[in-house]
Amino acid sequence: MIKNPFVIGKYAGPEYFCDRVDETDTLRQLITNGNNVVLTSPRRIGKTDLIRHFFAQPDITKEYIPVKVDIYSTQSLYEFTSQFGKAITNAIRNRGKAWGDKFVEFLSSLRAELTFDQNGMPVWGMGIGSKTEPNITLEEIFRYIEESKKPFLIAIDEFQQITNYSNGQQVEALLRTYIQDCNNAQFIFSGSQRHLMAEMFTSAARPFFQSARLMGLPLLKPDVYEDFCIQMFRQSDKTLNPGVAPEVYSRFDGITSYMHQVMNQLYSMTPAGGVCDASSIDQAIDTIISISADAYSSILAQLPQRQRDLLIAIASEGKAQNITSGAFIKRHNLPSPSSVSTSANILLSKDLIAREEDTYLVYDRFFAQWLRNKR
Ligand SMILES: Nc1ncnc2c1ncn2[C@@H]1O[C@H](COP(=O)(O)OP(=O)(O)OP(=O)(O)O)[C@@H](O)[C@H]1O
Ligand SMILES: [Mg+2]
Repeated sequence: MIKNPFVIGKYAGPEYFCDRVDETDTLRQLITNGNNVVLTSPRRIGKTDLIRHFFAQPDITKEYIPVKVDIYSTQSLYEFTSQFGKAITNAIRNRGKAWGDKFVEFLSSLRAELTFDQNGMPVWGMGIGSKTEPNITLEEIFRYIEESKKPFLIAIDEFQQITNYSNGQQVEALLRTYIQDCNNAQFIFSGSQRHLMAEMFTSAARPFFQSARLMGLPLLKPDVYEDFCIQMFRQSDKTLNPGVAPEVYSRFDGITSYMHQVMNQLYSMTPAGGVCDASSIDQAIDTIISISADAYSSILAQLPQRQRDLLIAIASEGKAQNITSGAFIKRHNLPSPSSVSTSANILLSKDLIAREEDTYLVYDRFFAQWLRNKR
């Protein structure tokens, strides 16, 4: 039995996973009919967890070898190949020695570099593989996949990251070729930068044009989320009053990650046999914010003055519009429109703010609240 049923940052099984019944079915339909899928949504809605949930479905694990590769932190084809190789190695590690041996056989360019655990299974270490010719390693991995008796189902999370590589266009074309030629694997490409993802798959000039079916992930439905929360409390002899979850939902615009962190805190504040009502929400949020306060302070302290002022200005408005307008600049005592626009671009690239069309907001909702509290 898990300590807190509102699980943060990892998938703990279907009993702690809320809904996504339709989305899981859609994925199943698309994948079992031979499609590759592009899964997009704004950040922190639940893409990664949905992939984990889908990969845990018994019929999927029976038919496929599921592999999830997160390339968020990669900067080059070499780093991509490392993440990819590591994920494939981990996926085959619990499938027995014959699988391991076969894998090593295919990775001829890496044979001298791979290490082995006490069961003779390969281990993909740090810095493995040629930095100059990662495409050879990648080719070998794809050849291995092609020969596997069981097909692979490979999710590449934060796929839009390849567009940030210095030779992004080349990598995009190279990957497209490998993926197109690979008859023994299907792919889920997921990403939170929707316009980048959409462009990669819907622009006729791009290598991945029309190579996958697009699927957006909506917010959890408020009533379904509330039922789930009430049920989770009830299982531990706690009571969540009606209306608490919808209040949390509306404060965080239904963004799963933030709601779930608040519910996690509310759950831990409620003793067994106790009742949680809406009056505890503020305290729960304050507690979460105070845990991160030091981190927030140091982020703020490291920003140059102009970026810091703009960040605080955006936070104070919640959703800030027309940030280069005279009115906004005057209201917050900022320098010129061009300076605001430069600072905004830097804050965007640091993931500190997000932009939806003409509206800017501080990306981490708890950080935003902390900034507002400070004033
Ligand atoms: N269906 C769900 N049931 C329960 N909790 C969920 C569900 N979906 C998401 N969560 C919660 O929200 C958090 C964020 O989800 P996840 O990491 O999957 O979002 P994401 O869309 O991949 O985010 P990012 O864009 O930052 O990669 C999870 O750690 C989990 O706590
Ligand atoms: Mg994710």
